[in-house]
Amino acid sequence: MSQQEQQLPVETAAQPSGAASAPQEAVDEQAAAQSAAPITASITTLGVRGEERDDFTKAESKRLRRRSLALLGSLAAPLKARLVLLAVVVVVSTAGTVAGPALIAWGIDNALPAVLDRNDWVPAFGVVATYIVVAIAGAVLTAWYTVLAARISQAILFDLRKRVFLHTQRLSLEFHETYTSGRIISRQTSDLDSIRELLDSGLNQLIQGVLYMVFTAIALVALDPTSGLVLAVSLVPLWFLIRWFQSNSQTLFRATRVASARVIVHFVETMTGIRAVQAFRKESRNRDEYGGYVEDYRVANTKVFNLFGTFDPVLVLIGNATLAAVVIVGGFRIVGGSLEVGALLAVALYAKRFFDPAQELAMFYNGYQSASAAMEKISGVLEERPSVPDPVKPTRLADASGKMDFDDVVFAYNADKVVLPAFDLHIPAGQTIALVGSTGAGKSTLAKLMARFYDPSQGSVQLDGVDLRELDTKDMRRAIVMVTQEAYLFSGSVADNIALGKPGASREEIERAAKAVGAHEFIMALPDGYDTDVNKRGGRVSAGQRQLLSFARAFLADPKVLILDEATASLDIPSERLVQEGLETLLADRTAVIIAHRLSTVAIAHRVLVMEHGRIVEDGTPDDLIAGTGRFAQLHAAWRDSLV
Ligand SMILES: Nc1ncnc2c1ncn2[C@@H]1O[C@H](COP(=O)(O)OP(=O)(O)OP(=O)(O)O)[C@@H](O)[C@H]1O
Ligand SMILES: [Mg+2]
Repeated sequence: MSQQEQQLPVETAAQPSGAASAPQEAVDEQAAAQSAAPITASITTLGVRGEERDDFTKAESKRLRRRSLALLGSLAAPLKARLVLLAVVVVVSTAGTVAGPALIAWGIDNALPAVLDRNDWVPAFGVVATYIVVAIAGAVLTAWYTVLAARISQAILFDLRKRVFLHTQRLSLEFHETYTSGRIISRQTSDLDSIRELLDSGLNQLIQGVLYMVFTAIALVALDPTSGLVLAVSLVPLWFLIRWFQSNSQTLFRATRVASARVIVHFVETMTGIRAVQAFRKESRNRDEYGGYVEDYRVANTKVFNLFGTFDPVLVLIGNATLAAVVIVGGFRIVGGSLEVGALLAVALYAKRFFDPAQELAMFYNGYQSASAAMEKISGVLEERPSVPDPVKPTRLADASGKMDFDDVVFAYNADKVVLPAFDLHIPAGQTIALVGSTGAGKSTLAKLMARFYDPSQGSVQLDGVDLRELDTKDMRRAIVMVTQEAYLFSGSVADNIALGKPGASREEIERAAKAVGAHEFIMALPDGYDTDVNKRGGRVSAGQRQLLSFARAFLADPKVLILDEATASLDIPSERLVQEGLETLLADRTAVIIAHRLSTVAIAHRVLVMEHGRIVEDGTPDDLIAGTGRFAQLHAAWRDSLV
């Protein structure tokens, strides 16, 4: 694994990801609360409260639709041959299913009289044999269709899942800071789920249902046009019923999704913040709130059931009334001699079966709605471009010295607030810098620019005189490593986690790195030493121990430029001292920027920078600055007094 992959999670680990199983509205709602700013490149699909927007302008809807269609097209393109086969199989198998009643009619009206009048069994055997063959072929084809359709939908989902993962992983830190991990999780889970549901069942049912109705209608008309006319009349109330169902179910289903989202958000929030909930006795307030949300959910569901309570019986009523009309009209015509009994039986069967897929068709619309919303959101993510793009013509720099320069850098996260107004900084190779300054001064921002998690708005950041934007990404990640306070551990053993710094490192190298940062002792005290699983009971390590592990990781990576952003904040004084001893030897031949609130760290620095409001206000050796009267001298005096 490259160092780029290693570093990103370190930075993003602080974001909440507890809402993993929440539906999209739930996490979107949280996300909207956390970040008001929409992603620039795409149309935001979030409303004011983070619920799905449905007030798109015509142009926006058109763009959204075009975008999801393009995505769908690119997903379907490699499956073209299989899709054609699928279409053929479904047409033939449905035609086979529909042939049954017609054969029965022929048997009754032609084969049966042949037996009775002439004792001729050939037509009877013929029709029975055909019926059996058609039935078996229909069953086999239906099975084939089901398997084919499932394979195609799985192939599409496999492709989409991979695309979403690989693409999101490649997107820059800026994206992940705005598009909270909760939201990106819902793209990969609930959104893909609603697409899967549509592909797996909804679409199958739609295609089979529509074909079935069309073939049935054709068979009916071919067999007896008069009965076809009766069926055509019944289509009018059916059409109104389905329209009524769709328009009502759309709002009601949306209401249930929103209500269930609230229930889940509240649940997830309570459980992730359970310590604060119990510490501040928020339980009873939570109980009332949660009770309210659950009640809303119940009411929304009841309304949906009421809708079905009307839809289902009316559908059955229309079906039965049509059947009755067909039989009555047919009965009169049999008496009149213009229709045969067998034909009437077939016509009645067709009229009855015609309504079978109606309910599924009405339901399809719903699945289609949520799947297309999901598709729009996913295509939005896939449309995002990394804000820190890979260089077109990368400059290789296999052996950097570690000299870093900031030339006329201006930086703003967003247009309304400039964080670094005018920044020049030149760090010779091998220098150790301590960066201090008050909270919000811009220290971490500087670090993120140095490690190219962001690009400057103006000016340039250079390593060995090469603009980071033009530097080969692999070389850059190998040369510059940033360690932050959030030391993220991936599932696996302690040794695996350290080895992230240098894939393929030997056990000796890993242990040497651990010893250098003073992590060896506590690792040996774990149940299985270096092989302890960090996610198992017993493998759980404290915040300070986690930091030591991420230190060992960085030491093993052995970069030319090492940036430590409050990387020792959770360590106790003895551990920090231990790390510092390691640091001194380790920083000897590399460029280092250490950001720390504890001034003890400053002792090992060659140079101290004091930063305020995005500017460097003091710059000098620790001794010079302490001897002066500036801000650092005051800070240092206060710190020394606190030690006494
Ligand atoms: N992702 C971001 N988007 C927008 N503004 C940000 C972002 N990160 C930081 N800022 C703003 O930039 C300014 C500098 O933040 P920065 O994190 O660099 O401060 P810092 O010096 O590291 O502070 P601390 O000592 O608390 O870590 C702050 O005003 C902060 O609000
Ligand atoms: Mg910071």
